Parts: sequence; C-alpha cells; structure tokens
Amino acid sequence: MSIRKRLILSNIGMIVIPIIGFFLVEIILGYLLFVVFKGNPQGTELTLFISIRFVAMVLILVITNGLLTYYMSKSIITPIKKLSLAANKISEGDLEYSVKSNKKDELGELSNTFEAMRLKFKDAKAAQQQYEKNRQELIASISHDLKTPLTSIKGYIRGIQDGVANTPEKLERYMQTIHKTANDMDRLLDELFLYSKLDLQRLPFHFEKVDLYSFFADLVDELAFNLEKDNGTATLLANKEDSYIVEADREKLKRVVTNILQNSLKYMDKNHKKIQVRLLSSPTEVIVEMKDNGGGISKEDIPFIFESFYRTDSSRNSSTGGSGLGLSIVKKIIEEHGGTIWADSKLGKGTSIYFNLKKVT
Ligand SMILES: Nc1ncnc2c1ncn2[C@@H]1O[C@H](COP(=O)(O)OP(=O)(O)OP(=O)(O)O)[C@@H](O)[C@H]1O
Ligand SMILES: [Mg+2]
Repeated sequence: MSIRKRLILSNIGMIVIPIIGFFLVEIILGYLLFVVFKGNPQGTELTLFISIRFVAMVLILVITNGLLTYYMSKSIITPIKKLSLAANKISEGDLEYSVKSNKKDELGELSNTFEAMRLKFKDAKAAQQQYEKNRQELIASISHDLKTPLTSIKGYIRGIQDGVANTPEKLERYMQTIHKTANDMDRLLDELFLYSKLDLQRLPFHFEKVDLYSFFADLVDELAFNLEKDNGTATLLANKEDSYIVEADREKLKRVVTNILQNSLKYMDKNHKKIQVRLLSSPTEVIVEMKDNGGGISKEDIPFIFESFYRTDSSRNSSTGGSGLGLSIVKKIIEEHGGTIWADSKLGKGTSIYFNLKKVT
C-alpha cells in the first residue's frame, strides 16, 4: 500500500477508533454502573461514571494515536534508515549491503532503484578492477616480449665484440639472427601500436560497400595458388544467388582475414593443408567461417584466444613465434564494424573462426 494511502487510513483510524471507543465505553460503563450495579444516575455514581469515562477516553486517544503513529513512523523510518546506512556504506566503498525490498510503496520503489544503482556500481567497480588487472598484465607482457629479443640481440652483439663469431659464416649467422630478432621486435611494436590505437578508438574507419563474395574469391584464389605446391587446398563456399554485400572498411577487413589465415597456416600440423572459407547469408547479416584442418585449440583455451597476449601453452612452447595480439586485433576490428567473432575447434582436427557483418540491402 502506498504511503499516502497508509497516512489517510491512519488519520481516519485516529478519528474513527476513538469515536467507536467512546461509544463502547459509554455503553459498557453505563450498563455496568447503572444496570448491573444499579447505581443512581443522579448521585455519586454519575460523578464516578463521568470520571471513568474521561480517563478511558483519554487512554483510548493516547493509545490509538500512539500505536498508529508508532506503526506509521516505523514503516517509513526503518527503510529510510536502511537506505541511509547503505548510502554510508557505499560512500565508504562497501558495495555489498543490499537494500532490496518487497514492499510495494514509494519507499520500496526507492529502495529497489537504490539497489539497482548499487548493483551497477558493483559491476562498474568489478569492470574497473578487471581493466586495471588487464592493463597491468598488458604492461608485464609488453615488457617481457620486448625484453626477451633485446636480451638476445645484446647477447649476439657481445658475441661479435668478444670475437666468438670468428669466421665469416658465423658472423653472417649472427648478423642474420640479429636482423630477424630486430624484425620480430619491429613487428611486435607495429602490432602493439595498432592494438593500442584500436583500443583507444583512435583509428579512423572508412566504411564502404564490400561484396564479400568477390573479396574472398580473389583472396582464396591467391591462397589456393600458394598452397598448391604442397598439395594444399583453399576453397570458397557460397551460394552465388545470395547477396554478400556488407558495410566494411576494406583495409581493416583484409587485416582481419590475414591474421586469421596466418594462424591457420602457423598452427598447421598436417601435410595437406586445407583452408575453407564459407559465406552464409541471412536477411540481415553475412556470417563468415574460416576453417582449417590444423592442430586445433582445446576447449579450455577457446574463451581466451581473443584476449590480448593470450597464447595457448602448446603455441607458447613451440617455435612458431608470435605475441598473442593477432586475434585481439581481429576482435577489435570486427567489433568496430558492429559484428561479433567466435571460434569453434577440435584438438587435432582443426579450427573455425566465425564473424558476422551487417548486410547492406
Ligand atoms: N587456427 C588456429 N589453430 C590453432 N591454434 C590457434 C589458431 N588460431 C589461434 N590459435 C591459438 O590462439 C592463440 C592466439 O592467437 P593470436 O593470433 O592472437 O596470437 P599468436 O598467433 O600467438 O600471435 P600473433 O598473431 O600476434 O603473431 C595462438 O597463440 C594459438 O595458440
Ligand atoms: Mg596470430
């Protein structure tokens, strides 16, 4: 019941209950004094009657008013006190105190709005903590990924300085390793730069109409040509009658496809490499599936592969190299397009990376 209704009822009660009480006192007292005890209506009994009636009426008034006021103030003050306590706790940083209410009145509503605000604050705090943790991990990963090749370059230079590379062949090998390691660092810095620009949303996107069918047809042709030498295949599956025109930034989309394909080739463990691109068209979107028959990713790793610097144990322990930024860049680009990206994989069998893009009709 709303507070307004309760206040009106309580006020009515403060008038009606004493009136009923007065009548009852009048009738019962009169009956007892003058009928049961046969008192004299003109004598001392009348004075007694008036005195008792007066005391009873005062008592009724005090009790009714007291009880109703107590009940009303309790029903208003208790939730306000609870809210005030919660507000204090929130201001001190404690977001665990729940003020959820089952009451249907204005204060119940206020409590539930407050509760929703508390839960939002709590989520925002958790997100902030997660962001902070990610940032720290990012710095740790960057430092590690830059320190390792730098240490290696310094080692080789020291080797040259100390005369360890004492033959022209050895010197050439050392120089090549230094060159390759410096290139790896350069690539990592390029990726980092791109990732941070995407993260800060500072990279301009130039959207245009892109026909995904012809986009992939060219790409798959080139790939098929390159894989042919090792008996590998690259195929494009699509229903030619469907439309695959989407709104996209062509250059960024190329980056997406290149990163996914690089992974397919890098984590390939079969002699006959098979890459398949499948386009699925719905009235509102195009879903792209890029499938390989490589080593696959374990179920436990799949939820993390789109996170920055995440590399599965097997790829970290292998000699493939990489920073773990490739798929996080892909994810950010797809999200800038308003799409989503996900993966499906079976260890030993292969991996499918899917993403969807809004269709232009
Ligand atoms: N097609 C795939 N087959 C098997 N594992 C994959 C595949 N694609 C991604 N992975 C796994 O997901 C991890 C993350 O991939 P991501 O492309 O982000 O990083 P990376 O390839 O290790 O490094 P980078 O792309 O920055 O050079 C990889 O380390 C690898 O373990
Ligand atoms: Mg990669």
